Amino acid sequence: MKIGEIVIDPPILLAPMAGVSNRAFRAISRSQGASLCTTEMVNATALAHKSAKSYWLMELDPGEAPVGIQIAGSDPDLMAQAAQQAERHGADLVDINMGCPVKKIVNNGDGSALLKDEDSAVAVVEAVVQAVKIPVTVKMRAGWDHDSITAPRLAQLFEKAGAQAITLHARTRSDQYVRPANWDFIRQVRERITIPLIGNGDVETPEDAIRMLETTGADAVMVGRASFGDPWIFRRIAHYLMTGEHLPPPDAYERARMALWHLERMVEIKGEAAAIPEMRKQLAWYLKGTPGSAEFRKRTQTLKLKAEAESLVHEWLDHARNEELTWT
Ligand SMILES: Cc1cc2nc3c(=O)[nH]c(=O)nc-3n(C[C@H](O)[C@H](O)[C@H](O)COP(=O)(O)O)c2cc1C
Repeated sequence: MKIGEIVIDPPILLAPMAGVSNRAFRAISRSQGASLCTTEMVNATALAHKSAKSYWLMELDPGEAPVGIQIAGSDPDLMAQAAQQAERHGADLVDINMGCPVKKIVNNGDGSALLKDEDSAVAVVEAVVQAVKIPVTVKMRAGWDHDSITAPRLAQLFEKAGAQAITLHARTRSDQYVRPANWDFIRQVRERITIPLIGNGDVETPEDAIRMLETTGADAVMVGRASFGDPWIFRRIAHYLMTGEHLPPPDAYERARMALWHLERMVEIKGEAAAIPEMRKQLAWYLKGTPGSAEFRKRTQTLKLKAEAESLVHEWLDHARNEELTWT
């Protein structure tokens, strides 16, 4: 798949996720086969107010490519400015958020609220497309609720306005994260657009990825939560797409090594005081799914220091090896 001149191969993407898809996790995901990674959502209004956090969210690793910066907002001028900043920061593409269901966001008319305001949604896409030279993509849900499945029509309008790819998270705003996602929404969008379509929602296994591609006509899959503590999912999907065969899951050593690298990188990026609280959930995810790991996961919740976190991972590794475990 190509978005503009950007080659996305294998067709597997890391989802933009607030609090997760930072520089450290994007580097990890890319190393495991995610062909395109996108930053956490950057709020265009906060950026206009020169919020330090927004600048931080836009920071990219040297040489990080291809990478998208995601922006959120409903004011076309502010969104155009945010897109230009994203371009200056080195983004290969700018992604517009039309899926965020969070009250604080939708009450401002941003995120998934744009799905019920066609004029504003199109105005935002037009303004952003005109503001930058890099490709513009839109990540959207299917609609505000099941009485208003607006994504197929909006996607068509966005294509006309110059968007170069659409990601469809196959749920409505009213669904929040209720399972299962309805992949038929992806198929409905496919029927209306010719630009690349990325399917998203509940891809958890290589088989899910193939099934999504085959049943919806999507060109690529985007993986979010299934990558928590398991960035190897990208490699497993890629391998399965290419060969029809399964790669073995990572062993305890590989998991511990990745957890420690993630920790190290987060401390470099954010400093110990901010990184460790954020790494608690990440470490708990890496240590999940092994007999006796509940106790270790519980202990992640009170970690304060990098050295403590490292000791805990080593202790878990000894425990896991003693159990002579493999993971499926
Ligand atoms: C913790 C978390 C944060 C998220 N933040 C964003 C975000 O900043 N921008 C966005 O477009 N979607 C965001 N999402 C939605 C995901 O990108 C994705 O659409 C959703 O999780 C469904 O995919 P999955 O079933 O593979 O997880 C977030 C999801 C989660 C779980």
